[in-house]
Amino acid sequence: MPELLSGKTALVLGVANKWSIAYSIASAFVREGASLVLTYQGERQRETVEELAADLKATRVLNCDVTKPDELEQLVSELKQLSPTIDAVVHSIAFANKDDLSRPFVETSRDGYLLAQEVSAYSLISVARALSPLMTAGGSLTTLTYLGSTRVVQNYNVMGVAKAALEASVRYLASDLGSSKIRVNAISAGPIKTASSRGIKDFSKVLDAVAAVAPLRRNTDPAEVADAAVFLASDLGRGVTGNVLFVDSGFQIVGIGL
Ligand SMILES: NC(=O)c1ccc[n+]([C@@H]2O[C@H](COP(=O)([O-])OP(=O)(O)OC[C@H]3O[C@@H](n4cnc5c(N)ncnc54)[C@H](O)[C@@H]3O)[C@@H](O)[C@H]2O)c1
Repeated sequence: MPELLSGKTALVLGVANKWSIAYSIASAFVREGASLVLTYQGERQRETVEELAADLKATRVLNCDVTKPDELEQLVSELKQLSPTIDAVVHSIAFANKDDLSRPFVETSRDGYLLAQEVSAYSLISVARALSPLMTAGGSLTTLTYLGSTRVVQNYNVMGVAKAALEASVRYLASDLGSSKIRVNAISAGPIKTASSRGIKDFSKVLDAVAAVAPLRRNTDPAEVADAAVFLASDLGRGVTGNVLFVDSGFQIVGIGL
C-alpha cells in the first residue's frame, strides 16, 4: 500500500504518554511516511515525550504550553529552522479542573470556566494563527472533540461547553484559512481511557454505557481515531473542511438504546 503522508511534515501537539490519543495519531502518521515533530507541555513531561519521540523516530521534540504566547512564538521560530513547510498540525489538547468534572454544572466557577475555554478551545485559534503562515503549501489542521459539545454527558460539564466553542472555532477557522488551502476539521472520538478522561467522574460507567448501545457494540480504539486523522491530513481528505467527523462506533446516532 502506498504511504499516505510521505513527503509531508506533521506537528502533533498533545502527546503526554503512550495512552494519549495524540500518541496513536503520531504513530499512524509515522507509519504513513510523515516526518514528525512532537511537542511537550513543560519540563515535567519532557523526558517521557522525548522517549516516545525516539521510539517514533520523530525528527524533533519541542516545548509548548499553549497558554504561554512566548512558547508558541518560540515553537514557530524553531519550526522555521527545521522545515520549509508544515503540512499537517494536530491539536489534541484539553484541560479542566477535576472539581468541574464531578460536581453539578451549575456550580462551575468563573475561573474554571475560563481555564477550560483557554486551554481547550482558544488554543486552537492561537495555534492556527501561529502556524498557518508556516503552512505555505496549504495543509490540514485537526483537533479532537467529544459529543458532550452538543449533548449532555453526565460530569463532562464545563468541558462540553469548551468543546462547543472548539467546534464553532473549527468552522470559523475553516472559513478564514480556506483561501490559503488550509483545511480545519475536528474528530469527535468516542470515549477512550486516557490520563485526561480518568479525571471525569464515573468515566468507566460511560465506557460501559457506550459499548452496550453503540451500533458497533464496542468502544472506540484510539487506532481508529488515528486512521481518521491520517485521512484528514492526507490528500484523500482534500475536499473536507469545517467538518466534525465522528469516530465513535456510531454512538452519536443513538436516541434510546436498549
Ligand atoms: N479520551 C477521550 O475519551 C476523548 C474523547 C474525545 C475527545 N478527546 C480529546 O482528545 C484530546 C486528547 O486527550 P486525551 O484523551 O488523549 O488525553 P491526554 O491527557 O493524553 O492528552 C491531553 C493533552 O493535553 C495537553 N495539555 C493540557 N494543557 C495544555 C497546555 N496548557 N499546553 C499544552 N498542552 C496541554 C496535555 O499535556 C496532554 O498531552 C483532548 O482534546 C480530549 O478532550 C478525548
